[in-house]
Amino acid sequence: MEMVIPQHVAIILDGNGRWAKSKGMPRNYGHSKGAKNLEVICEDAYNMGIKYLTVYLFSTENWKRSQEEVAGLMKLFRSYTKTCIKTAQKNNMKVRLLGDPTGLEPDLQESLAKLVESSKNNTGLNFQIAINYGSRDEIVRAIRHLAQDCVEGSVKPQDITEEMFSGYLDTREVPDPDLLIRTSGEQRLSNYLMWQLAYSEFYFTEVPWPAFTKDDLWKAIEKYNGRERRFGGRLEE
Ligand code: IPE
Ligand code: IPE
Ligand code: MG
Repeated sequence: MEMVIPQHVAIILDGNGRWAKSKGMPRNYGHSKGAKNLEVICEDAYNMGIKYLTVYLFSTENWKRSQEEVAGLMKLFRSYTKTCIKTAQKNNMKVRLLGDPTGLEPDLQESLAKLVESSKNNTGLNFQIAINYGSRDEIVRAIRHLAQDCVEGSVKPQDITEEMFSGYLDTREVPDPDLLIRTSGEQRLSNYLMWQLAYSEFYFTEVPWPAFTKDDLWKAIEKYNGRERRFGGRLEE
């Protein structure tokens, strides 16, 4: 049987902390291994034929973690972003950001902007990084922007459609995910892409993110292939 490769895969990279703990290591060790694994999975996903990969790196709720962990994560994002500027060129990846960058330190905002700018003409994997991202925050920011356009008169409330509203979200230009994967056993969305995941298939695995491999990704795709995709009662053509 011919495998259908989902065009867009979204991942909640979870379980870094528990994975590290199981090895008697600090949580930030898990984050650092998780970031390394992300580079590997990006290449694997593209080689499998996935066109869009969207990953959840840091949620608007993750600021509530200990100061030590948050500082460690920000340090890691700084080095990850620098490395990603190089790997995006090497692997022809086009990187987009989801979330509110204004909540991040100015130097991190700058390197993230540089990552997006330097990769914008690449034609390989479309790679979306959700950082300081929350679906509710994204929707509220979109509504503010849309309300402003209404006040200024460029949009009439009666002309607002689902499609138009999507254009105000951070994911404008990106098709909705076909498949959502969450690692490490939890089965919840944690404020991720709530608008965009309306019709996506969900796949949960016990494997923690730092241990997640190409084979695990393949298993998710196989499971996805075994499902009859329905869109409001209609089978996918
Ligand atoms: C996911 O791993 C990475 C981030 C949320 C930054 P966790 O840090 O949530 O790891 P667990 O879920 O506590 O094991
Ligand atoms: C979701 O994971 C956020 C990211 C993976 C960045 P969490 O581990 O933070 O989610 P909860 O707190 O368990 O719901
Ligand atoms: Mg977690």
